[in-house]
Amino acid sequence: MTVRKAVIPVAGFGTRFLPVTKSVPKVLIPVLDHPAIHFCVAEATEAGISEIIFVVSRGQEAIAGYFEANPVLEAHLAGRGDDDRLRELHSINRMADVTTVVQEEQRGLGHAVLMARDKVGDEPFAVFLPDDIIRSEDPTIGAMIRIHEERDANVIAVKQVPDSAIPSLGIIDPVAGAGDVRRVKGMVEKPALADAPSDLAIIGRYVLTPQVFDAVARAGEGALGEIQLTDAIAALIDDPGVYAYRFPGDHFDVGTPVGMLKATINEALGRHEMRDELVRWMDTELKTRVT
Ligand code: G1P
Repeated sequence: MTVRKAVIPVAGFGTRFLPVTKSVPKVLIPVLDHPAIHFCVAEATEAGISEIIFVVSRGQEAIAGYFEANPVLEAHLAGRGDDDRLRELHSINRMADVTTVVQEEQRGLGHAVLMARDKVGDEPFAVFLPDDIIRSEDPTIGAMIRIHEERDANVIAVKQVPDSAIPSLGIIDPVAGAGDVRRVKGMVEKPALADAPSDLAIIGRYVLTPQVFDAVARAGEGALGEIQLTDAIAALIDDPGVYAYRFPGDHFDVGTPVGMLKATINEALGRHEMRDELVRWMDTELKTRVT
């Protein structure tokens, strides 16, 4: 069965981005001129996903507002004949059918995904973690959906990471072999470096079978005392199976200010109207400031 729905957990305090996150949800902080959440939703819809389910904390309802029409603003742009901006706003309004569910308490990523159970129903679905932006020609989630369709199993995106990153990520134990798609025989959330089964970390894209909901409901508290999605997926390794996909393209962790800055610079370098000015400025700054 094909994948029509995506769950995007966006709840949380965004403490690494305080003080801006006092009043702005973290996923609305811009990467240049689009909120970070735009990139996940665009990746989903490019891959044919038509329904987005945001799992929000109370008070974060503004997130869905970004994908809704703003008639006053649109009338203003139409009056000025600003067709390019108007076209972009219309395309955002039409991107997907967006709904939200509220996660009343923060009990971990697995728990957040479980909140979307009724809206997903009994069908495979995608999960996006909006801290991870992946820029690649072929949308990563689209490639993962194809792997899911071939194997009727769960699929997670992975990337090789340095040792220093291992204790803060989910790490997989793949079966021996080469290639971009490998079966997974173990997974552990935030292991100590000495216990890590590999250097392949889970990055925030998943295609999951609906059995994962029962697995989350059964999972106890894992790493950090939270209900971990990794532990629930690990329970599906034998049946119906879990595959890891090493995706091509550039990955940005926009969950930290420096990662957000890198994603923003990357975006600006791709815009012909600002690229030259930015490069000239950076060149001068680097020569005068970096010793
Ligand atoms: C979550 C997942 C983890 C994954 C990471 C990727 O962790 O639990 O398995 O490696 O996202 O960004 P978090 O960053 O929420 O601690």
